[in-house]
Amino acid sequence: MPTNPLVKVENVSKRFRVRGRELHAVSNVSFEIEAGKTFGLVGESGSGKSTLGRLVLRLLDANEGRITFNGKDITNLPNRQLRPLRQEMQIIFQDPQASMSPRMTIGRAIEDAMEIHKIGTKQSRRKRVDELLERVGLPSFVKYAFPHELSGGQLQRIGIARALSLNPKLIVCDEPVSALDVSIQVQVIHLLQELQRDLNLTYIFIAHNLAVVEYLSDEIAVLYLGEVVEQAPAEKLFKNPSHPYTQVLLQSILKIPEDPSSRQKMTHIQGEIPSPFNPPSGCTFHPRCPFATDVCRTQKPVAKHVDDDHKATCHLIG
Ligand SMILES: Nc1ncnc2c1ncn2[C@@H]1O[C@H](COP(=O)(O)OP(=O)(O)OP(=O)(O)O)[C@@H](O)[C@H]1O
Ligand SMILES: [Mg+2]
Repeated sequence: MPTNPLVKVENVSKRFRVRGRELHAVSNVSFEIEAGKTFGLVGESGSGKSTLGRLVLRLLDANEGRITFNGKDITNLPNRQLRPLRQEMQIIFQDPQASMSPRMTIGRAIEDAMEIHKIGTKQSRRKRVDELLERVGLPSFVKYAFPHELSGGQLQRIGIARALSLNPKLIVCDEPVSALDVSIQVQVIHLLQELQRDLNLTYIFIAHNLAVVEYLSDEIAVLYLGEVVEQAPAEKLFKNPSHPYTQVLLQSILKIPEDPSSRQKMTHIQGEIPSPFNPPSGCTFHPRCPFATDVCRTQKPVAKHVDDDHKATCHLIG
């Protein structure tokens, strides 16, 4: 456990009210991330990865639990006090174009982020745009282009440049390469790695593709129906997956797929994901678990140590 983590998430839960019913998106999740490290989040669609990322950034408010950023409890921090911290916590998405105005040039879009946060003068911001474009491997004339004129990979580099313009400490990378061709995925991943090394960035890296997460992450948490079912340093999780769900996930994807659409493979696990409105009793994975016993159907498992830095929440361990 890091002694002075940049991010500390303690027993955080988030429920959404949907047509009068409670949807359990994130349930009692805890983890810590040391500065300069990458924390990977994996799990099927709907497992709560994006919600968790947004909770850490306070783009969503938790129902329960505590979130600490750089030693400061931000769980209930009012907006005014949160504002200077927002700069330090950025997010990049699968579809960077969605967050850009189609009528704004790329240069303007990058400058805009700095202007909103009152960083520098007009002149220094212009200069910074050039620096940032170079930093993310794009020629300076790209600043005159409009979003639709760029490729997916170039746009993702712009998304990264925009995040960097605010000198963040933490970047939540929410499936940043999932929509890109494999060769481009590799380039963007290398860029993220290089930036992390040079700028001591901390990442929360969300992806369906376990190979990508393994490659980038120092530590990985596996989410199932809003709960962390296993957490370990990346090598340990891959060498010794201890929760049946992690084991199935690892079997379903072993390599970076040739075709990005093969992210669908993860849904090939037997059975459907249960309803987040009414999670199953006992272990929420029991209806799909090949090893489930009576206790799994009735009693909620607690996290058990497989190793000092490796935990799994399964009755069958131990
Ligand atoms: N604003 C919202 N209102 C209601 N329900 C929501 C909202 N956002 C997310 N959810 C629900 O919360 C659960 C977790 O969603 P989330 O988007 O965090 O999953 P995810 O793991 O990021 O999935 P994906 O891999 O598809 O991006 C899902 O059941 C989703 O439908
Ligand atoms: Mg998501």
